[in-house]
Amino acid sequence: MVKTKTVYVCQECGRKAPKPMGRCPQCDSWNSMVEEVERGGREGGGRRGVRVDSQPQRLRDITGDAEARWPLPIEEFARVLGGGVVPGSVVLVGGDPGIGKSTLLLQTALVMADGGRVLYVSGEESEPQMKARALRLMGEAALPDELYLLTETSLEAIEQHLQSLSPRLAVIDSIQTLHSADLESAAGSVSQVRECASRLQTLAKAADVALFLVGHVTKEGTIAGPRVLEHIVDTVLYLEGDRFHAYRLLRSVKNRFGPTTEVGVFEMGSSGMEQVPNPSEAFLAERVVKSPGSAVAVTMEGTRPLLVEVQGLTSSTSFGNPRRTANGLDYNRLLLIIAVLTRRVGLSLSDQDVFANVVGGLQVSEPAADLALAAALASSVRDRPLPADMVLVGEVGLSGELRSVPQLPARLTEAAKLGFRQAIVAASVRGHDAWPAGLKVTPARSVTAALEAAFKADLSTGS
Ligand code: TYD
Ligand code: MG
Repeated sequence: MVKTKTVYVCQECGRKAPKPMGRCPQCDSWNSMVEEVERGGREGGGRRGVRVDSQPQRLRDITGDAEARWPLPIEEFARVLGGGVVPGSVVLVGGDPGIGKSTLLLQTALVMADGGRVLYVSGEESEPQMKARALRLMGEAALPDELYLLTETSLEAIEQHLQSLSPRLAVIDSIQTLHSADLESAAGSVSQVRECASRLQTLAKAADVALFLVGHVTKEGTIAGPRVLEHIVDTVLYLEGDRFHAYRLLRSVKNRFGPTTEVGVFEMGSSGMEQVPNPSEAFLAERVVKSPGSAVAVTMEGTRPLLVEVQGLTSSTSFGNPRRTANGLDYNRLLLIIAVLTRRVGLSLSDQDVFANVVGGLQVSEPAADLALAAALASSVRDRPLPADMVLVGEVGLSGELRSVPQLPARLTEAAKLGFRQAIVAASVRGHDAWPAGLKVTPARSVTAALEAAFKADLSTGS
């Protein structure tokens, strides 16, 4: 029999205490005590009693396929996982509340249940609520036979169900609602979340069941979010997006079984999360061509180029300090571009409010979008539109120089595919012979030169 008792352990210095303390007596840090299960040894245990089952194997002799995967028919999801679901793996899907985690995972459970048994455990919704959602996602006739729903928050009960039902895939929605009887802390606390996840991880490996854990991201950090789990699980995915926009990006930040650069694009529709196989087209769909303040950038999301519209708007400051607002772009990057436009290009923005925006609720963090942002702002200041069929790709440096960006050929190929005919890129890039046909590529050394080429005018004088 394994004896268990709980102790409170300071996360800073490791000091143990039988009761929670607000302040650690050893290292004086506040609120660092977290409840943990201390498992006693087996009776008559100790080192001598340990049985060794594992056996080192010669590298050359190892056979077997590490890449056995179950196919996942939702392609955008499978791409992010690295091709399919790995048996025995634990995947954490994090995201803000209401972003669509339950929807995406129920859809996944529905399609995966066609090839084997699937258990969907929810600690937040009742079985009829889940059924109603499933009906919204697919018709009554299409519901699979092998999908089981369960409303449960007790870890011990879920462990038993996983063992008796032996599904090949189980979804736990969400890890923050689970509660283990071994710990006194409330569900959602760091200790509970960590304990539940590591026990589920052990079970997944032993029973060869793939687990998807849902984790809510909490901004305050008072309740344990997915961050404390990142090292326990095999794969960490984040579902991102803007609640007011329909697009959702599924991004992988850790993956023991695949790349961490891939991104899946979905759109939240009336019947669940729909895949967006051509994201660039979707993001550019509402663009008003020939309007000042709009430029098209090509960013890379994983291995996939994505064309996005960057908008800039400038207007005279009516009182006080000029305002700068960045939406979907890094604020400091915007300040840098404004400074470069003022000092190096000769566009005065010091008495202008500046607003910058990436269309579609997308978050662009890549410096490759710098030039498009600079062009959008310049276009707004001078009230001159950019050519409708032009993309701008390049990083802007502090001296106003234009720097090359990685994977330019892939970016330009995507632009050409979508019908763009002109591109402005950094002059330092190599591979000038490999540009896609039909695309006129203009290399530029500086932002000033790039903007002159784009507007066919000297912007500092406005002529
Ligand atoms: P949900 O998956 O419950 O979010 P999470 O589990 O991440 O908290 O999604 C909630 C939102 O999605 C809710 O506002 C309703 C919306 N939704 C749709 O727009 N279409 C649909 O088909 C479904 C099922 C939900
Ligand atoms: Mg949910």
